[in-house]
Amino acid sequence: MKTLMVKGLLLLAIVCSCRAADSIWEVCNKDSNISGSSQISTNIDSLLATLVSKTPSRGFLTTTSSSYNNKDNVYGLAQCRGDISKSDCSSCIQDAAKRIREACPNQSDSRILYDFCFLRYSPENFFGKLDTGSGLIYFNTANVTETDPKTFDNELGALFDRIRSEAVLPKSQGLGKGKAKLTPFVTLNGLVQCTRDLTELECAQCFATAVGSFMTTCHNKKGCRVLYSSCYVRYEFYPFYFPLDPAQTGRGVGTISSVSLSP
Ligand SMILES: *[C@@H]1O[C@H](CO)[C@@H](O)[C@H](O)[C@H]1NC(C)=O
Ligand SMILES: *[C@@H]1O[C@H](CO)[C@@H](O)[C@H](O)[C@H]1NC(C)=O
Ligand SMILES: *[C@@H]1O[C@H](CO)[C@@H](O)[C@H](O)[C@H]1NC(C)=O
Repeated sequence: MKTLMVKGLLLLAIVCSCRAADSIWEVCNKDSNISGSSQISTNIDSLLATLVSKTPSRGFLTTTSSSYNNKDNVYGLAQCRGDISKSDCSSCIQDAAKRIREACPNQSDSRILYDFCFLRYSPENFFGKLDTGSGLIYFNTANVTETDPKTFDNELGALFDRIRSEAVLPKSQGLGKGKAKLTPFVTLNGLVQCTRDLTELECAQCFATAVGSFMTTCHNKKGCRVLYSSCYVRYEFYPFYFPLDPAQTGRGVGTISSVSLSP
């Protein structure tokens, strides 16, 4: 895995991460141009309708849409982060289904990720296949100054070892979250989430790849999100997962930068 390029520098004050507002990653595979097939487009619409209506009740769905002659198949997956409410899940999937068609109007292989949910479809059956082929990292450019880098690495490593082993248990449905006190005044909040079509082993592999960026691109940074199609890992110095921790008053402020990852 190598870092491709710094995609952009967005200045933002993270007042609250409680909004699912905007997508954080959109991928339209340019090799999947729909080129005149209105049937596949119809199948994508029907697939999206199913994902929107049926995902929120379980927080996860895979479904297929095809024509009567079994052609123009489209495979779709939608998943909400395991800690969010059914109503937030529902609005996130609705936004995703609408936005992905605007972002990728002429592609049949597309993905969109929000902090609260993920939606993907493709003419290829990708269910159960680990995908760390391309990814995106967001990190807070501020360095950790509350502890020395070694102490920070150790605390971060211990927290993520703990939440990763929790996430791969079948009952966790790919979600792990937890916190650790870095100093009496600073709490580290972490979350990991795999797509629920993966096996325990594939999920663990995805986390290992993603968490690897904590020691490279994100090393000693005050916050980091590593995004792949198969998993999402994140830590922050402020609470961002639900239920929000009332004991922490800290808010994240800083400059967020992003870097694309390619295989
Ligand atoms: C798909 O369409 C885009 C935009 O029109 C174009 O740049 C790209 O070359 C096309 N790809 C293929 C494989 O036809
Ligand atoms: C998608 O295809 C339509 C019809 O071929 C074309 O008019 C439009 O410009 C294309 N959109 C993009 C974003 O490539
Ligand atoms: C963070 O630390 C690195 C390495 O010491 C340094 O190059 C960089 O300028 C620092 N960034 C900020 C925002 O202070």
